[in-house]
Amino acid sequence: MPTSHPSKTPIILDCDTGVDDTMAIIFACLAPEIELVGIGTIWGNVDLDLATQNSLNILAMCGKPDVPVARGAETPLNGSHVDYAYFVHGDDGQGNRGMKGKYGKQISMTAAEFIVDACRKRPGEIELVPVGPLTNIALALQLEPNLPKLVRGVTIMGGTALAPGNVTPVAEANVWHDPEAADLVFKAQWPITMVGLDVTMKTLLTPDHFDRMRKGGGISKYMAQIAEFYTAFNENASFGRPLATMHDAVAVGLAANLVRATISPLVHAEVDTTDGPGRGQTICDLRGKYLNYPPQEGAHCRVPLELEDGFPDYFTNLLVAAGDPAVDIS
Ligand code: BDR
Ligand code: CA
Repeated sequence: MPTSHPSKTPIILDCDTGVDDTMAIIFACLAPEIELVGIGTIWGNVDLDLATQNSLNILAMCGKPDVPVARGAETPLNGSHVDYAYFVHGDDGQGNRGMKGKYGKQISMTAAEFIVDACRKRPGEIELVPVGPLTNIALALQLEPNLPKLVRGVTIMGGTALAPGNVTPVAEANVWHDPEAADLVFKAQWPITMVGLDVTMKTLLTPDHFDRMRKGGGISKYMAQIAEFYTAFNENASFGRPLATMHDAVAVGLAANLVRATISPLVHAEVDTTDGPGRGQTICDLRGKYLNYPPQEGAHCRVPLELEDGFPDYFTNLLVAAGDPAVDIS
């Protein structure tokens, strides 16, 4: 993992702030290599109000109350039914152990307006890091069709190339929640990194990591505390062991080059928007595997399949070294 940081990577996170989104926000606040330009909020793990308040609270806790938070979409693009994931993240999206207070206030722009405004002000600099359903990013594209030329790139936590889905046999939650939005985002001509379940299901916090966090300062203890519910879900649903998937933090780490992919082909990728069993699947053309992935003309989606080791340790070290919350989190 890198030890020097000559320039910071400016990112805009777009989150449906549950437990692993919280990991990503805390990480983006603590990593000296990252400039957190702002946060857009989106329905998904929890409803939009909760995603927004949780994002504001976490920024306040990390001593970053000036980072703008912009509310985004409450439903998928086509206005269809919304399913939340309180059973994964707890009723408060913080493992039922979140802070009681409410800190901060969202800005008046919507998330899509904020994304467009920030990227127009800093053309070519900002990496968008959506780690929830892709509705806000699709709305930003509709608002500013030139957006692909205004960003550095888009690092998405979502989709899966070879690993099984986590909502249906083939679909990952963030893409499955709004396949029509994801389709617009994948079709836009910008560099995409699709940080899917292929790598995030293998990037795990263990009981050892959480023991270390509990011995750290208040921010670190908070992370360990809210992760208990999420870890129990992961144990029952996926691993048979108390492990926590670091989905959204992995996307932040890759966006800022704080973890490197060892296998990451640049391929064509598209989203299934049909109503059949494939709905929400990200279909990635990995047929070049046996030839070591020769170039595919026009491809603009990088799909990490393997990461170097050590990211969970790096994340834990950063957390344990962090101090106490800047606000009362009891
Ligand atoms: C993704 O879905 C959300 O529940 C998580 O926060 C993560 O972004 C994993 O499929
Ligand atoms: Ca998320």
